[in-house]
Amino acid sequence: MALLDVRNLYIGYKTFKGVLDVVDGISFSIERGESLALVGESGSGKTSIVKAILRSLPGNAIARGRILFEGLDLLSASKEEVSKIRGARIAYIPQEPLSALNQLFTIEEHFIDRLLLAGREQTSLLRYIRERRRAPRELRELMIKALEEARIGEPERVLSSYPFQLSGGMLQRVLIAMAVATRPSLLLADEPTTALDVITQKEILGLLKDLQREMGMSILYVTHDLGVARMVADKILVLYAGQPAELGSSARVLGSPLHPYTSGLLRSIPKLSGEPMRPIEGGLPDYTNPPGGCRFHPRCPHAMDKCRALKPPGIAMDERLVHCWLYEV
Ligand SMILES: Nc1ncnc2c1ncn2[C@@H]1O[C@H](COP(=O)(O)OP(=O)(O)OP(=O)(O)O)[C@@H](O)[C@H]1O
Ligand code: SF4
Ligand SMILES: [Mg+2]
Repeated sequence: MALLDVRNLYIGYKTFKGVLDVVDGISFSIERGESLALVGESGSGKTSIVKAILRSLPGNAIARGRILFEGLDLLSASKEEVSKIRGARIAYIPQEPLSALNQLFTIEEHFIDRLLLAGREQTSLLRYIRERRRAPRELRELMIKALEEARIGEPERVLSSYPFQLSGGMLQRVLIAMAVATRPSLLLADEPTTALDVITQKEILGLLKDLQREMGMSILYVTHDLGVARMVADKILVLYAGQPAELGSSARVLGSPLHPYTSGLLRSIPKLSGEPMRPIEGGLPDYTNPPGGCRFHPRCPHAMDKCRALKPPGIAMDERLVHCWLYEV
């Protein structure tokens, strides 16, 4: 059984303009110890999928389909069952590290809170205060070990620092340490390096890869950057406007893309050879009234009548699933 099995996921948001059909029929699975990157441009629904896995979508969201984690459907499970898993067996590194931390509290205070609340829906105030008073002695060793695992050289100093005293790269290491301290089997990393410079980005991705191997953890990366996906992920799911485009091993999908959107994305990134970049013209559709059939058809150079009428199923070929009518046999 796969560790995570997402089946035909739909996510919509109710707004005053109508319902935004943001995620439309996404399926993928992640095995134990495996990493998958969700790749797509800004607004394609990546964070919505991560929030659905964490069961933390906002109140105006509607989600349908199945999200099986170790066989339990996180979409239909009780709040209690989900809270036992979230923050403990499924950990999360948020898209914006700075906004995830309160400037008025030290790293140690954040870390203790994270550990006391991991795997619990809520705790009574009395129990929280009691545990919080006892915690520093009991949990200090655990925190230091986790910071060391995230290759932080002076864990004691970092614990007593406030977030604004640390660099972006160090903060990201701290968030990784907090996430892996509970030994999760699945880590959700939403754009873990977008805010960082290229060298720090490489170090952080290297660290995540090492931790994945050492702990036998699975990682779901979210990124708009194909270079990041190539560096870290075993498998890639390319999304276009909430629909699947291509799913397969990173080497196959990026080495010999089949879907016109994947090829377009690859042509739109800068090349060392100096070959000119050719961005895909146009932008994502209005989600209140997305194009019928294949949502990519208004931007696709190969669009046919069928593409406008019918949504392409996943067609298995060349060790991947490609959602495009060009490959219908
Ligand atoms: N609570 C909400 N209510 C209405 N629309 C929303 C809500 N949350 C997200 N959206 C819309 O859903 C779409 C997908 O958003 P999402 O954050 O999932 O995309 P993303 O791929 O993570 O983008 P980015 O790369 O910019 O982080 C966007 O058009 C966004 O404006
Ligand atoms: S299904 Fe049609 S519109 Fe969509 S990517 Fe393939 S050729 Fe282009
Ligand atoms: Mg996002």
